Amino acid sequence: MANVTVIGAQWGDEGKGKIVDWLASRADVVVRFQGGHNAGHTLVVDGKTYKLSLLPSGIVSGTLSVIGNGVVLDPWALREEVARIEAQGVRITDDNLAIADNCPLILPLHRDLDALRETAAGKGKIGTTGRGIGPAYEDKVGRRAIRVCDLAHLDALEAQLDRLCAHHDALRAGFGQPPVDRAALLAALSEVAPFVLRFAQPVWKRLKKVRRAGARILFEGAQGVLLDVDHGTYPFVTSSNTVSGTAAAGSGLGPSATGFVLGIVKAYTTRVGSGPFPTELDDEIGQRLGERGHEFGTVTGRKRRVGWFDAVLVRQSCAISGVTGIALTKIDVLDGLEKVKICTGYRLRGKVYDYLPSHAADQALCEPIYEEMDGWSQSTAGARSYADLPANAIKYIQRIQELIECPVALVSTSPERDDTILMRDPFVD
Ligand code: GDP
Ligand code: IMO
Ligand code: MG
Repeated sequence: MANVTVIGAQWGDEGKGKIVDWLASRADVVVRFQGGHNAGHTLVVDGKTYKLSLLPSGIVSGTLSVIGNGVVLDPWALREEVARIEAQGVRITDDNLAIADNCPLILPLHRDLDALRETAAGKGKIGTTGRGIGPAYEDKVGRRAIRVCDLAHLDALEAQLDRLCAHHDALRAGFGQPPVDRAALLAALSEVAPFVLRFAQPVWKRLKKVRRAGARILFEGAQGVLLDVDHGTYPFVTSSNTVSGTAAAGSGLGPSATGFVLGIVKAYTTRVGSGPFPTELDDEIGQRLGERGHEFGTVTGRKRRVGWFDAVLVRQSCAISGVTGIALTKIDVLDGLEKVKICTGYRLRGKVYDYLPSHAADQALCEPIYEEMDGWSQSTAGARSYADLPANAIKYIQRIQELIECPVALVSTSPERDDTILMRDPFVD
């Protein structure tokens, strides 16, 4: 039995949460390995909607859920989310939730800095989720972060906070802001510490043990390959590596554990925040897809930008992330369109490109080259077998498969957990 690593292959919001929840009942452990509460995953189970940001999407099905060391953790956001999801009837205890004790924390000073930078950037802003993600990762690699395990050593925390705050006070002064109130921060951390420490442990050890016992591990990526800090549309990206390779480093299991890489791909394209988007639609069709697909951010409620399927980008993401097979989601949102378009290349300064060039200015100038196909008038919504799909929807899926050079393993036809068509089981690959 293989393990499975789920990653987003576009700009996030591909439907990873739905697919992870669907796969979770067949896994023994679900592990988040990067990102933080910038992620927003909507799960719909028997008509009931759950919105998760930091909790792994296995939590709703009762699967052991692990927050790995690669995640940046806001302890107050976690406490709020646990309370909210428990209020929906999901039991969350140290039996089904484990948090890596070497996870760096997101503190209010990170959120402050995120907001100060975005405001100062004006039109050039990244359009972050404002959760303090970038500044928290900077402090991690700057070797001054406060980590989960530090909450068990409050006597040493004051000196650590001094070091961290000295750095932030200098930055804040540059923005005309007062220094961090260290006493208040220490008090807030001391207050939240017992809640976080309930779940804290060296998760690499727990994962090693369950792996030896033959457990099936499902790694859950957040965001998408095009938001990866190395491979994405830099600088309009998030501050972590979102590619499949991060599953190993961000959980404490080696690369041999990551198994089948399932790239989640929306049947069209969306993006939240700033940055290049070659196939973006500013017309009635874009409006219609946004409405039918309910394309509003789970975390910030922002309207997502919408466009045609971009096979160039997905082919690039699949290659970079070593995708074994894709799950194609939201095909139902295209129902009823007379024609559908797929981007197969770009025109840039008189040349044709079959990949997205690295420079932001080049990316912004890429003009899509489209292939047009007939749409389908019949509904695909809720279909649970490939045979139930209209012939033209099947042609569209097959054409995508050819262009991205990667097979389709799953098709999703509605937000509901079980409205999912299995074509190739990632766990038995
Ligand atoms: P994630 O961040 O990748 O987990 O995706 P989000 O949850 O942010 O956004 C995906 C949205 O599409 C959610 O509202 C899902 O409920 C919804 N969704 C997922 N799969 C499908 C599908 O096949 N069809 C439709 N119509 N909606 C879907
Ligand atoms: P899920 O897991 C879509 C985007 C933000 C912004 C950029 C940087 O739900 O797919 P950040 O706050 O991370 O510094 O913002 O990344 N972004 C996402 N877009 N889905 C997400 O997560 C995202 N997480 C971050 O909109 O453009
Ligand atoms: Mg999302």
